[in-house]
Amino acid sequence: MSTELQTEILSVPEAAAARRSIRAYRPEPIPREDFERIFDAVRLAPSAFNVQPWRFVVVTDPELKATLGEAANGQRQVTGAPAVIVLYTDMKDVLDHVEDIVHPGVPADRRAATAAGFRSSWAAKSDAEREQWGAAQGYIALGYLLLTAASYGYATSAMLGFDAARVKQALGLPAHVAVPAMVAIGRGDEEGFTHHRHPLERIVSYR
Ligand SMILES: Cc1cc2nc3c(=O)[nH]c(=O)nc-3n(C[C@H](O)[C@H](O)[C@H](O)COP(=O)(O)O)c2cc1C
Repeated sequence: MSTELQTEILSVPEAAAARRSIRAYRPEPIPREDFERIFDAVRLAPSAFNVQPWRFVVVTDPELKATLGEAANGQRQVTGAPAVIVLYTDMKDVLDHVEDIVHPGVPADRRAATAAGFRSSWAAKSDAEREQWGAAQGYIALGYLLLTAASYGYATSAMLGFDAARVKQALGLPAHVAVPAMVAIGRGDEEGFTHHRHPLERIVSYR
């Protein structure tokens, strides 16, 4: 991804081609409206049963970023980026408010039964199974986030190298939630590595 300030909005294939993990950032803060247009696209990500278990904490406070940086083994992009987005997933919140995800097209007399059916399908699962499943949905939002940010000219670095318990403690998140990723975001100050990917014939077959 170029370090030049990008003004045009990239298409999805353009953003996929331009995006690279960036670990050095310029200090300028990200305007709130930029976050809002990024998250407005991210919230449209699909998820199984439309559960939408993803939640985002945007961290710009230097002290909090320093704490997150320690939890992330000192990875320089955490303190160096103007913002770090903590993506967590909360299936307990989903199940406590199942009515919120029942589609408005479901007739009024079937809404309660639809919600009850969803709740009962999870009744036999442990908290850990539930949250692990929710985290998998969270990675769909992560993909949307990385691509949308690139589309608007923002560099990102997804991270899984952190102590989730410390991150949750720093942000006051409940113990049961999963933390699929943290994402450093800002205007990039390095080019990143060129793509190193499998060729199509290694990963795709047609039958
Ligand atoms: C879920 C996830 C977790 C990652 N965790 C880290 C990390 O903790 N630290 C890091 O430097 N890079 C991390 N990366 C970046 C990957 O190493 C990188 O995406 C991959 O090598 C491909 O390079 P590219 O993103 O520049 O195309 C992570 C990427 C993803 C998607």
